[in-house]
Amino acid sequence: MTEKDFIPHNYTINIESGSFTWQSPSNIALVKYWGKKENQIPENPSISFTLNTCKTTTTLSFSKKENNDEFSFGIYLDDEKKDDFKPKIETFFKRIENYLPFLKDYHFTIETSNSFPHSSGIASSASGMSALALCLMSIEKQLIESNVSLSAVEGLFDNDYFNKKASFLARLGSGSACRSIEGDLIVWGNHKNIEGSSDLFGIKYPYKVHENFKNYQDTILLVDKGEKQVSSTVGHNLMHNHPFAQERFKQANNNLIKLTDVFKTGDLKAFTEIVESEALSLHAMMMTSLPYYILMKPNTLEIINKIWAFRKETNSNVCFTLDAGANVHILYPEQEAEQVMKFIQNELVAHCQNGHYICDRIGYGSEQML
Ligand code: DP6
Repeated sequence: MTEKDFIPHNYTINIESGSFTWQSPSNIALVKYWGKKENQIPENPSISFTLNTCKTTTTLSFSKKENNDEFSFGIYLDDEKKDDFKPKIETFFKRIENYLPFLKDYHFTIETSNSFPHSSGIASSASGMSALALCLMSIEKQLIESNVSLSAVEGLFDNDYFNKKASFLARLGSGSACRSIEGDLIVWGNHKNIEGSSDLFGIKYPYKVHENFKNYQDTILLVDKGEKQVSSTVGHNLMHNHPFAQERFKQANNNLIKLTDVFKTGDLKAFTEIVESEALSLHAMMMTSLPYYILMKPNTLEIINKIWAFRKETNSNVCFTLDAGANVHILYPEQEAEQVMKFIQNELVAHCQNGHYICDRIGYGSEQML
């Protein structure tokens, strides 16, 4: 598929108003997306677990407006007007206008809320942008279905196309958001060994996944709830002219091949090695950018060292990953949940800000609410 496949045939805009609500989860990358080309095209493929508990609910209301020469929208987080979110949404609308030509015909009200506290340091861009993309897709679907001549074109708007285009649009809002439409394991970015993989949207991992990964657990330790000093978007850009960029992109491609083996065999030791190496390589890229920076905090390192010591002592399969921040995602198989939760409570919670953590696990993707 190419970008062109997401440009709709003309539809007549004959719906006055309406509203849709979608709930969309966050995701945690195992092989990280870090570095992008123009138009939100990733430098390397990535793969993530879709989460279950950390999610955003967005209601998008729309009503036809008179003039159609500019975007018009209001945005609310937990019923509070959030004008500081507007530039990001405006950029998003500009990027997707070609693919959703109705955008300037309506005034939109975007009402959004997160299941996680907004000062948790958990990025809401993946869940937020995917929820908004899904609401917009529901509008497009309605416009197409209400158009008699077009709805006659069988299969034009099947579920597969809906999800692919939602992921395609979400990507243009925030790269990692394209991995939040479906679950439970999503690949984004073209990889020669993964059939159907694309730089344009996320796909469900198409091969066999061993039982060991069923219901995998993710406990998110909130080490630092403050705003990040360097945003992901700025971080991605620092991969241009980065001395290790090409090697990093190769490493990610190789790690994805290794992971496909791990998913087949269920080898949890190999899983740990790939996932932890990915997390530390991501942060190594930040530390070796110009300007260089560090997002981990002393407590991030305390937690990592305690996990390594615990693993040595107990032969547990607990491991960690990091996103672009100080918080630590603790990943472990469901069968080890009791033992690992005890370890977290006894040894790791002390390193969390105000003792806060979130228990999450693999999830199955977004859901339409209304
Ligand atoms: C470290 O998707 O937030 O979490 O495309 O600029 O919005 P933009 O970046 P974003 O980057 C996420 C980076 C990451 C790794 C990952 O999720 O793969």
